[in-house]
Amino acid sequence: MTSSEPGDDPQGPSGRSGPGRPRLSRRQLLVLAGASAGVVGVGAGTATVLGTGSSPVSGPDRITSTDPEVRAAERARQATGRTTRIALMAAPGALDLAGRSAQTWLFNGRLGQEVRLTAGDELRARVTNGLASPTTVHWHGLALRNDMDGVPAVTAPSIEPGTSFDYGFIVPDPGTYWFHPHVGAQLDTGLIGALIVEDPNEPLRYDDDVTLVLDDWLDGVTSTPDMTLAGLRADGMAMGGMGGMDMGSMEPTAKGIGVSRRQPLGEDTGDVTYPLHLVNGRPPADPFIVEGRPGQWLRLRLINAGSDTAYEFSVGGHKLRVVASDGFPVEPVAIDSLVLGMGERFDVLVEVGDGAFPVVAIPVGKLGPPAFAVLRTSSGEAPRPARPPRGGRLLNYRDLVPDESVRMSARRPDRALTIDLTMEDGGRAWLINGKRFPDHEPLDLRRGERVRLEFVNRTMMFHPMHVHGHTFGLVGYGTTADDPGLRKDTVNVLPMQRMTVDFDADNPGQWLTHCHNAYHGEMGMMTVLSYVR
Ligand code: C2O
Ligand code: CU
Repeated sequence: MTSSEPGDDPQGPSGRSGPGRPRLSRRQLLVLAGASAGVVGVGAGTATVLGTGSSPVSGPDRITSTDPEVRAAERARQATGRTTRIALMAAPGALDLAGRSAQTWLFNGRLGQEVRLTAGDELRARVTNGLASPTTVHWHGLALRNDMDGVPAVTAPSIEPGTSFDYGFIVPDPGTYWFHPHVGAQLDTGLIGALIVEDPNEPLRYDDDVTLVLDDWLDGVTSTPDMTLAGLRADGMAMGGMGGMDMGSMEPTAKGIGVSRRQPLGEDTGDVTYPLHLVNGRPPADPFIVEGRPGQWLRLRLINAGSDTAYEFSVGGHKLRVVASDGFPVEPVAIDSLVLGMGERFDVLVEVGDGAFPVVAIPVGKLGPPAFAVLRTSSGEAPRPARPPRGGRLLNYRDLVPDESVRMSARRPDRALTIDLTMEDGGRAWLINGKRFPDHEPLDLRRGERVRLEFVNRTMMFHPMHVHGHTFGLVGYGTTADDPGLRKDTVNVLPMQRMTVDFDADNPGQWLTHCHNAYHGEMGMMTVLSYVR
């Protein structure tokens, strides 16, 4: 296999057959390393920078993942000197769904495995590919070194079947993060895990800490992710809802269109029907149980690892005190339920009552049984899944103010970039700035700049937009009108909404930015934020 002429290879650089493998044209090729080398070492000098030579790369001088700027940024990160080593084996396996076995792909034979370390520690992860397809691991939400970001053809080669890759990087910020592959529709298999970064000076007081990974499930039950993707490519929007509407000349607004308390993300929230929704890999018939003591404070770390489903989360009979959003602390707010788009995380504290209570994540805008777990302090009757209380308070981003420690300074942006979100061909293509990834126009920026990103959603479907390697502030949310407030790395951009976020360009490299609906991303809704010299 050669990676030097991906434009000539109809299957793309990794040689995977079947639909869904993005193909890079020469112009889009930023860095493509020698994937045939098999095991690739950590650090410099093992990858080959292409894109020069015969290909007509012109314009700005891009800082690629193998450039010295990336290594220098890593050296500048605060490190504790401690190292956590893990091994992840990606391989086919069976997931036990209440006695029914679903064939899927898993890390170490499990779904939602948790990795825990402390901010400033180094994570060394040897990932071995026991699949028949190339894979990678992306560490969602971390401001890590660019060459460890796990995006084929943008930051590093993919890991070929039968080989391993050693990821190694300093984990800079405390919080709730997660990991998953960044190849094809693999996000919709069981290849997902939680990455919990503890704060050595944790300011919150709580007695126990539990991670709940929410996930929409079809693999090995009704379909496979690749079949689902192929179906969407062929037929477009399966549910034929509002999302496909042509909005003509209407202009997106700060509020968006068609959202209400009953439909917080609009009417049409997804294209894929899932037979099951899981908490920590467990279906409602065999629920995950959180054991508590009455009166204790529990920190729940919620992760939406779904591919095409947003969830409204609640715990029967309990207020949720929101303390962090996408890993970053916020001033606590008490609410009854909250919505998580795909890729989003929230941390909440609950004061545990005495009894057994339903922990419920309702798929927003979809039918079917919710994801369900149980919080209990005594063995009693197992509760039934329950809806959050009518008239209960649903979290809005506007309710959240970043904690002082992570508030961004007020600063005039040095650069403004637009990310225009559109749909074509009845949902067979999802585009950014009129292009369908891997075709894209990189969005150039320079190190040291305050960068303003404006997401402009010209569709009637929400898009959870995610920026790699950075955490942005939502402009006008939780602060004064023109300054960045709530810190996030994934934000739900509502139907026909215009959402502005600011971030500091302090992590050189090439960073994917995309819709975290796994199928929208694969059907083109991705682009690259590109540091130039
Ligand atoms: Cu969960 Cu590209 O990310
Ligand atoms: Cu989307």
